[in-house]
Amino acid sequence: MPVMAPAISLNTLLHTNIHMSGGVIGKERDGGTASSRGLTGRPPLEKVRGKGRSMYDDANTVKKTFDQEFLSEYLRQAQWAEMIELKKAINEISRRKGGQIAILDIGIGNARIPKHLSGIKEIWDMVGSYDGIDNAENCIGISNVVVSEMGLGDKVSVKQMDAANLGQVRKKYDLVIVTWFTAGNFYPDDFPFEGYGKGSERYDLGRNAKFEKVFGLAYKHLNPGGEIIIGSAYIDNESTRKRQEDFYRKCGMTVITGPEDSFTATVERFWSQRFTEERMKKYLYFVPSENISFIALDTYEFAMMVRIRK
Ligand SMILES: C[S@@+](CC[C@H](N)C(=O)[O-])C[C@H]1O[C@@H](n2cnc3c(N)ncnc32)[C@H](O)[C@@H]1O
Repeated sequence: MPVMAPAISLNTLLHTNIHMSGGVIGKERDGGTASSRGLTGRPPLEKVRGKGRSMYDDANTVKKTFDQEFLSEYLRQAQWAEMIELKKAINEISRRKGGQIAILDIGIGNARIPKHLSGIKEIWDMVGSYDGIDNAENCIGISNVVVSEMGLGDKVSVKQMDAANLGQVRKKYDLVIVTWFTAGNFYPDDFPFEGYGKGSERYDLGRNAKFEKVFGLAYKHLNPGGEIIIGSAYIDNESTRKRQEDFYRKCGMTVITGPEDSFTATVERFWSQRFTEERMKKYLYFVPSENISFIALDTYEFAMMVRIRK
């Protein structure tokens, strides 16, 4: 997967809505073309909410969730904790293999993980290749700039792809990572955003077909002895729910879920699930349960890491 290096700075990307096609990035100053903008100069709400767009194609979401200053201390420190555990895991898996490992990053976002891993030579030397996918054009644009500006193109490649289409990827990996709450973003295709929360009926997450599909495919893409690492997942409890809701409201979104739900969704089609160990194991029914381990990322039941070994 070759890396196309667009001639646009990261700062511009983080503060602008971008659209990319055929490897060329075009910048639209006000977040849309004249014909797509409403009278307010902002994209019409139906476009922001539009079914075909991914959650992270909304420039506001990208700007705020990737802005370290804007994040809550809970979210920021979950990143620190998962990074520490991730480095230990890369070290272990590389030693077990006896050489460099191939990594697939599902939902690479703004390339935060390769950006920081590459700064630690001892760890980065253990990585032979690093492929990132993301279904948001915005994130692919940002990641390509990071890869280009940091000169990581010898190992890192980035491609726009929905995780549900992983079956199209031919390569096998020693480590598949899904970091910083991304695993909770795989919402079922039939989730009824429109009107949700208005009646008493709640969405049953006893099963989550999308989650199971993505991780089933990821598991198939592992070399023997390889691992999937869910970097951080929200732990399902009241205080985590409230912290999630507070953050999405701070981002300017309207929450449509409540205490009865084990996920938080917004009018703007943002969706984020919380988990218990039991539910994780249920969704990961195709993995022998002794191959699944959980690591607490804090002492206050906010986030956990899940390691899944083949
Ligand atoms: C919470 S961000 C995490 C970004 C990055 N992994 C990190 O640790 O900083 C979630 C990312 O997953 C991507 N994503 C969500 N659903 C996806 C899907 N179905 N397929 C591919 N990427 C997806 C989003 O576009 C976004 O970039």
